[in-house]
Amino acid sequence: MRHYVTVGILVIVVTILTYAGLYSVDLLPVAASLQAGSINDVGSIDWLWNWELVVMCFLFSLIAVPMFYSFVVFRRRKGDTSDGEHMEGNTNLEIAWTVLPLILVFAFAYMGAYSLGDIRRMDLDAMSIKVRAQQFTWTFEYPEYGFFSNELHLPVDQQVVLKMTSTDVIHSFWVPEFRIKQDVVPGRITEYIVTPTLIGPYEVRCAELCGTSHYNMENAVIVESRANFDIWVAEQVAIAAAAAQTPEGQGQLLAVKNGCSGCHSVDGTRLTGPTWFGIYGADVELADGRTIVVDDAFIIESILDPKAKEVAGFSPTSMPTYATVLTEEEIANIIAYIKTLR
Ligand code: CUA
Repeated sequence: MRHYVTVGILVIVVTILTYAGLYSVDLLPVAASLQAGSINDVGSIDWLWNWELVVMCFLFSLIAVPMFYSFVVFRRRKGDTSDGEHMEGNTNLEIAWTVLPLILVFAFAYMGAYSLGDIRRMDLDAMSIKVRAQQFTWTFEYPEYGFFSNELHLPVDQQVVLKMTSTDVIHSFWVPEFRIKQDVVPGRITEYIVTPTLIGPYEVRCAELCGTSHYNMENAVIVESRANFDIWVAEQVAIAAAAAQTPEGQGQLLAVKNGCSGCHSVDGTRLTGPTWFGIYGADVELADGRTIVVDDAFIIESILDPKAKEVAGFSPTSMPTYATVLTEEEIANIIAYIKTLR
């Protein structure tokens, strides 16, 4: 009996110490959404996570403490060659280790369902933004304002619902500070409901292995005041309107809309595909050893059939054909845009 009491007290002490230790190292990044909440916010993700952490610390102690206690207290003494005490089952123990975890599992199932219901609740005035994922970037469409962006700007304290789909493989939308993660699947639309509560720059990263540049599938997420958001929207609308006046401007808008920048930088940075900076008119080496001048014909062919002539160092290409996506005129506009990048 003495051993049970000692182990019981030690389990409680080690649980508290483990929890205090883990709590003090800030396991989670800052909470930046209503859904993330806080540990005192019943139904929020951080509240649920905190209780899971408590149970994890307890279960860890429940295994580690009796184990180390036995190592020390019941170790074999020098010269003792006798057999251990013979034991056969313990009905009370078996009932306890069946019923208690069962209660715990049901309790957490209830808490999880409660929390899920809470964070999936949609406001009537939620702002809708369309999200398109593709290898290897995110494109955001603001249907209310009619423009596309590779940055996600969100007004603080406004619930948004992201309607997400993918053009190729499965990706996963994840902003750690918002806590929520949602798969983005080709052929269907998944929803991501979030109410940002903390102004600041964040990053959406892809949380589903989707190809060679999966690690690089990160776009900026900016949570800002309503006033700054309105300014940004007005700027984007003006930029889009001005750009639509010229072929190269339209080409630039198309590059954003179709996510070209996910693989082709416009400043010389090496990404999954060749940079567009200074590429027009330049000589490039192909994977088969030939050298070719980048002209209209080569760019058109590369957009329609990316595998026809692969550039050395970027082969085999993971670029899909855009034959069904872009019209002849749109491709001409994109070429006009590429010509300006030097
Ligand atoms: Cu998209 Cu990983």
